Amino acid sequence: MPDYPVKPMERTFVMIKPEGLQRGVTGEIIARIEKKGLKIIAMKMLVISGDLAKKHYGEHAGKPFFENLVKYITCGPVIAMAIEGKNAVSTVRAMMGSTDPLKAEQGTIRATYCMDMGRNIIHGSDSLTSAEREIGNFFKPDELIGYSRSIEPWVYE
Ligand SMILES: Nc1ncnc2c1ncn2[C@@H]1O[C@H](COP(=O)(O)OP(=O)(O)O)[C@@H](O)[C@H]1O
Ligand SMILES: [Mg+2]
Repeated sequence: MPDYPVKPMERTFVMIKPEGLQRGVTGEIIARIEKKGLKIIAMKMLVISGDLAKKHYGEHAGKPFFENLVKYITCGPVIAMAIEGKNAVSTVRAMMGSTDPLKAEQGTIRATYCMDMGRNIIHGSDSLTSAEREIGNFFKPDELIGYSRSIEPWVYE
């Protein structure tokens, strides 16, 4: 069997929003990420500051929901993660489902756990460029831990 890594993998930024902790389902969401075969290379719990929230959601500044979004994302602890794997950005987005949980495909995280757009429990980067920026907003380079797992050849051919 080949040694891992066979080829460089994408990285994406994932965050379980405050309601994930309040509702006690962070473990279930992290378990989905792990079961898929994606690798957690950084994880921390934090309360996001107003400045970081505005930076993270900068593209939405000025939109009608922006102020509420900043209030909501800073209202309690979140879990921030950097995730590595094949096509990690689009793979995580597919696992999350659409922004509006009632329109999300059945079985996705948002369809399974959520009702409202303003309580959609998970964030995932929407492109490689955003992923790099968002990971940099939340983690120092030395907090990203590259490691190999013995299961790797059983996840990737
Ligand atoms: N119309 C809206 N009403 C309330 N909240 C919204 C609305 N649009 C977006 N949001 C919130 O802002 C977050 C960021 O929006 P967006 O980047 O468009 O979605 P996504 O999180 O799916 O990438 C959403 O996850 C959601 O929590
Ligand atoms: Mg987005």
